[in-house]
Amino acid sequence: MDVMPQALARTRKRLNYPPNVNWIVADVQHFSSAERFELIVVAEVFYYLADIAEVRDAIRNLACVLAPEGQLIFGSARDANCRRWGHIAGAETVLKMLNERFTEIERVECVGQSSNEDCLLARFQNAVHFSHQSDLPR
Ligand SMILES: C[S@@+](CC[C@H](N)C(=O)[O-])C[C@H]1O[C@@H](n2cnc3c(N)ncnc32)[C@H](O)[C@@H]1O
Repeated sequence: MDVMPQALARTRKRLNYPPNVNWIVADVQHFSSAERFELIVVAEVFYYLADIAEVRDAIRNLACVLAPEGQLIFGSARDANCRRWGHIAGAETVLKMLNERFTEIERVECVGQSSNEDCLLARFQNAVHFSHQSDLPR
């Protein structure tokens, strides 16, 4: 999914038009689907949103389409770089927000050759999974 059709067209071409992929032009803030996804990867996208409220909307949307036992992988440049580039916020801010909805199970710090490449990656489990577990009789 990407808001820009050109981005999807380039990726399809680069991957040699795989037959088993659905390509959806949509805004992450407004995307909805009856389908539930076991894995969502959202990398280097949230900092393009206009403000924190839009990031919250996008996270809420992704939570709606993540399967109960699904996982979400998030990646982003760090706050300091994003702000220097003129964006609202980066990895640290969004990770806090994601932790309000999901359960973080792994985090990796990536250090590039220049500080521009530094980023954080994190893997989350849908919190629904854990709330179901805690509902189980002891
Ligand atoms: C830095 S690229 C990252 C692309 C890819 N996720 C990756 O990691 O290689 C950012 C992408 O986010 C897309 N994007 C920006 N705002 C978006 C939005 N509101 N909804 C969906 N995609 C968006 C842009 O069109 C661009 O293709």
